[in-house]
Amino acid sequence: MPRLAYVDGQFVPLAAAAVNVEDRGLQFADSVYEVVAVFNGRLFDWDGHAARLARNLAALAIAPPMADAALARVARRLIAANRATEAILYLQVTRGVARRDHVAAALRPTLVMTVRPFDFAQRVGQQMAGVGVITVPDERWARCDIKTTGLLANVLAKQRARDEGAFEAWLVAADGRVAEGASTNAWIVAADGTLVTPPLTPRVLPGVTRAAVIEAARERRIAVAERDFTVAEAQAACEALITSTTVPVLPVVRIDGATVGDGRPGPITTQLAAAVWDRVAVQTGYRP
Ligand code: PDD
Repeated sequence: MPRLAYVDGQFVPLAAAAVNVEDRGLQFADSVYEVVAVFNGRLFDWDGHAARLARNLAALAIAPPMADAALARVARRLIAANRATEAILYLQVTRGVARRDHVAAALRPTLVMTVRPFDFAQRVGQQMAGVGVITVPDERWARCDIKTTGLLANVLAKQRARDEGAFEAWLVAADGRVAEGASTNAWIVAADGTLVTPPLTPRVLPGVTRAAVIEAARERRIAVAERDFTVAEAQAACEALITSTTVPVLPVVRIDGATVGDGRPGPITTQLAAAVWDRVAVQTGYRP
């Protein structure tokens, strides 16, 4: 069965799916996106993704392609058409198609969705072993709170991490503060057991998983502080972790080659990972 994509109102074979070369997503990265996890063929945390998408479209004055409920219907039809069970749904909205000019009139937005199978079970092994991160200078633009497809600095940082045998790159400001990962939010567990993650400023993407983890921590009476931390503080922390839709919670056991804690996933990270899998099970029935 050929995989199908959704492009501007049509379900088409993925291999033939295309947008206009004058689409502003291609020309200017004038576009926003979401990555949504699918378990048992069901969308996970859809409301959080839909709300963030709506906020991002409004922030950039890109017209919403359709109402949230209609968007969810298209996503579900695409998942069903691909017979996807565990998968990643990718959704992109661009400002639309126009002759290349920095200034654009009001346009009809382009909506693209794809879905690809994704092996979430592999994460369980990584969860038990932990992963390494490197740190790199944060060379992104000043509005990282908006989930745009302008990801070149993230792509280069992630590639550098992989080239150096690490899983993720943490993006660090000139003063040493960690903002987030190339495609994950960054966290530590401080000596007093407080779970710490940078506050929601324009340097940080408001992760849907980040919100779920904060909620789970508070339910479990784990203290949470939204404050900055430095690379040195993270290297000396009891635990470190990263979160995202595709991860969803992974222990970080090495930062720039320095061992975090005893080099093994810590109890708070393990508890939070279990909490997110519980959330997945409640919403979708899936357990890894
Ligand atoms: N990335 N920070 C950045 C820079 C991200 O790109 C992402 C997600 C996150 C975590 O957000 P969430 O929990 O909502 O997935 C934080 C997606 C998965 C990606 O670009 O593939």
